Amino acid sequence: MEIEKLTILGLSESTLTMIFDNLESCMLFPEIKIVNNLVLNKLKSFENPLFEISLIPTVENSDCISKSFLGVYKPQSKLTVFKHFESINSDFINIINKTASISSTVKLGVGINVNSLVSVAAFTQIGNFVSINRNASIGHHSKINDFVTINPGANIAGFVKIGRNTLIGMGVNIIDGISVGENSIIGAGSLVTKNIPDGVVAYGNPCKIIRKNEIF
Ligand SMILES: CC(C)(COP(=O)(O)OP(=O)(O)OC[C@H]1O[C@@H](n2cnc3c(N)ncnc32)[C@H](O)[C@@H]1OP(=O)(O)O)[C@@H](O)C(=O)NCCC(=O)NCCS
Repeated sequence: MEIEKLTILGLSESTLTMIFDNLESCMLFPEIKIVNNLVLNKLKSFENPLFEISLIPTVENSDCISKSFLGVYKPQSKLTVFKHFESINSDFINIINKTASISSTVKLGVGINVNSLVSVAAFTQIGNFVSINRNASIGHHSKINDFVTINPGANIAGFVKIGRNTLIGMGVNIIDGISVGENSIIGAGSLVTKNIPDGVVAYGNPCKIIRKNEIF
């Protein structure tokens, strides 16, 4: 039987910070492997990490991947890394900060990261590989689809739907019952009062469509 080790697939600087912010979840694993040799120097700059971290250039060098996590943050990066490693046999873990408050009625997918002081109210659904950053709040009966990223301090009211791969900027407010489409970006500080379609960049108060989102 293999020991439980955590393999981080890809790694961006923001996720590296998140891992160190959430040491408690990560320390459940005696060993963490990171599949990305580009961040070696960044990692070396952390003195005395509390757990052993080793770097492996490709997944093939790892004997067996039991538990893993996508180490990237933006929707497009998460999709790219996920597609790259899709064929590996792994269970994705959720990394949830101990100060986050998540109703026991919330349905959680896999590969989710929830950072400090986040709150998620009753009967909400959080899809796979969703990232929710510091101080964001999500109201009741909302549905956050796969690969969505929610930046710090966003407030999402009840009965809101966010489509796949969409990025919600920091400090965005979305009023109740609104649907935001997939593959869209809502710019920082926006107040969203009307539905937003798929594939657009929108921002402002009130939030308006600015242009097509060329990223996807
Ligand atoms: C919306 C966003 C994706 C960029 O959109 P963009 O169209 O490429 O924006 P640009 O940088 O080309 O700026 C174009 C104009 O829009 C304005 N603008 C950009 N973002 C804006 C926003 N969120 N709200 C209001 N105006 C904004 C710029 O000031 C600029 O104005 P100008 O033409 O008068 O100079 C980006 O600004 C944003 O809000 N990203 C989210 C940032 C975030 O949440 N960071 C936290 C990370 S944890």
